[in-house]
Amino acid sequence: MSETSPKLRAELEGIPTYKPGRPAAAGGPVAYKLSSNENPYPPLPGVMESVTAAACNFNRYPDMACTGLMDELSERFGVPVSHLATGTGSVGVAQQLVQATSGPGDEVIYAWRSFEAYPIIAQISGARSVQVPLTEGDVHDLDAMADAITDRTRLIFVCNPNNPTGTVVRRAELERFLDRVPGDVLVVLDEAYREFIRDPEVPDGVELYRDRPNVCVLRTFSKAYGLAGLRVGFAIAHDPVAAALRKTAVPFGVSQLAQEAAVASLRAEDELLGRVGSLVCERNRVVDALRAQGWTVPETQANFVWLRLGERTMAFAAACEQHGVVVRPFPGEGVRVTVGETEANDIFLKAAEGFRKEL
Ligand SMILES: Cc1ncc(COP(=O)(O)O)c(C=O)c1O
Repeated sequence: MSETSPKLRAELEGIPTYKPGRPAAAGGPVAYKLSSNENPYPPLPGVMESVTAAACNFNRYPDMACTGLMDELSERFGVPVSHLATGTGSVGVAQQLVQATSGPGDEVIYAWRSFEAYPIIAQISGARSVQVPLTEGDVHDLDAMADAITDRTRLIFVCNPNNPTGTVVRRAELERFLDRVPGDVLVVLDEAYREFIRDPEVPDGVELYRDRPNVCVLRTFSKAYGLAGLRVGFAIAHDPVAAALRKTAVPFGVSQLAQEAAVASLRAEDELLGRVGSLVCERNRVVDALRAQGWTVPETQANFVWLRLGERTMAFAAACEQHGVVVRPFPGEGVRVTVGETEANDIFLKAAEGFRKEL
């Protein structure tokens, strides 16, 4: 056998691996997974029915144009089908956006810490990541992000609400920022958690994209709509960007099961958004309880909370696990905890209270 191995692109060296939230260990003391910002509710019966019906035909390729879903989204958001593009989760669409805009020597700007896929997909394209630290309050520093723009900048991610802190940027500051970004730089408003926002001052990216050809909105069916396992997300953007997304898409990437489930979910939106409302109530209860215990918790508009624990991060995550919940630690920084079912949240609050007393 030859000693040499196939030559791989140098850009792939040192790419951080995406760390999925750990599942609850089977048979172990851990009962609840609060580590991946998933929706704790099981699929709605109607959504399940459309998926099982679609499963009867999985010997066939899916509809590559996602026609039914595109029509539904077009109507739901009041945008032309030509402004829509679907992909394998919004992370898949985010990767296509970077591929379509940024190559070696180009720069991709995003806040840090933010969604951990951004550095990975930037590096895969050979682009340089420009990470702009969050403010003291764990919020995007939009002025510093605008200051970081150079003539090599091709794409800027604004994650709103931000993963993992849950913090948001509001209308006036976001519009001021967009006004500063040159028209040839794409701004991607990653709104994976949009449906959990209750602050009326947080703008809907879809309003902002309408008269800004360099703004692209990313949405997903994984969180509020509870379809994480089916992998379907989408972008809303003006023609050249949406067309580039269609060019960079993996053919047949979105399965027919995912397409049917997404359509059924949009039709069952009232019920699904009712569930989101319950999760928002739980979120507020968890935040209030943590603050009453003495924790500093940044205001979250997502389905998770962030505790900046620094050196104590891993010990805190271990304590949660002992109580029966898996959380998502970022070593040396903090812990992100998904708001789950009431029982899981109660266990987490008990673990947090116990840890606090030991401090
Ligand atoms: C900010 C953000 N964007 C995008 C995604 C990707 O979600 P999906 O690929 O499931 O649509 C996530 C998932 O955790 C996220 O937190």
